[in-house]
Amino acid sequence: MNEFRLVQVADIHLGAGQEHHLDNWLKVAAWIGRERPDLVVVNGDLIMGDPDDEADYAFACVHIGQLSVPCRYLPGNHDIGDNVISGKMPKRVNDARRARFVAHFGEERWAFQAAGWGFVGLNSQLLGSDGQPAEAEQWTWLEHTLESFSDGPVALFLHKPLFLDHPSEPDHQDATLRQSCIDAASRARLLDLCRDHRVRLVSSGHKHQTRSFSLDGIYYLWGPSTACVNSPPTTLHWGTREVGFIDYRFRPDGFDHRIVGADFLFRHENYIRKYGAASE
Ligand SMILES: [Fe+2]
Ligand SMILES: [Fe+2]
Repeated sequence: MNEFRLVQVADIHLGAGQEHHLDNWLKVAAWIGRERPDLVVVNGDLIMGDPDDEADYAFACVHIGQLSVPCRYLPGNHDIGDNVISGKMPKRVNDARRARFVAHFGEERWAFQAAGWGFVGLNSQLLGSDGQPAEAEQWTWLEHTLESFSDGPVALFLHKPLFLDHPSEPDHQDATLRQSCIDAASRARLLDLCRDHRVRLVSSGHKHQTRSFSLDGIYYLWGPSTACVNSPPTTLHWGTREVGFIDYRFRPDGFDHRIVGADFLFRHENYIRKYGAASE
């Protein structure tokens, strides 16, 4: 059967010398070594927190680089900084941070075809960059890439979701909600391309929550973090508060997916650790 098995791991959040999150990553890596999918997509936030922490970069690169199957990499806000227009972190995306990611992981976007599908990995952190030349280059690359695919469905991978509730929503006033997804103008431009080029799946990370729904012919899947769940249980959540990763199987006539890992990974709650840090 013409089937392509792709595993998405996201929000791995590895820090030098820190055992939490690495405990889960070692279990994920062992699972991948046993199952041997055709490809692993590492969908952003590989680094614990600070995109300029060289020690964390080296640590994450060593541990993620030990996977023995082909991998494609995409950056998240904790790898290269937050989006200029819609972000919240003090550190925003720039050329130096992008270059650091590419130096360690070899790429910041990619495209290929398999099992009758086109696959595109996009650097979500460049969207809404307020005029950085690299963003214009990525838009041009994306348009050419989508036009170059043979007829067939397309799967889009990027770190941040396109929206929280609906494509028509405006940019949120609340900074935490606003940084949760792509800014409205970039989203509209991206969705126009998705509609014109048979995009059927948008697979993201970032929210550390599992959620899936279909809308206007596109299946949206928020993948969980392999590392931890975010924020106290009282916080407004859109998806399931679990850890894990996504096991996809693509065929020319469609795809299946399952969420893996909630039953064998540690369900770290990062807000508890932050309470501890705040009191020290
Ligand atoms: Fe994350
Ligand atoms: Fe993120």
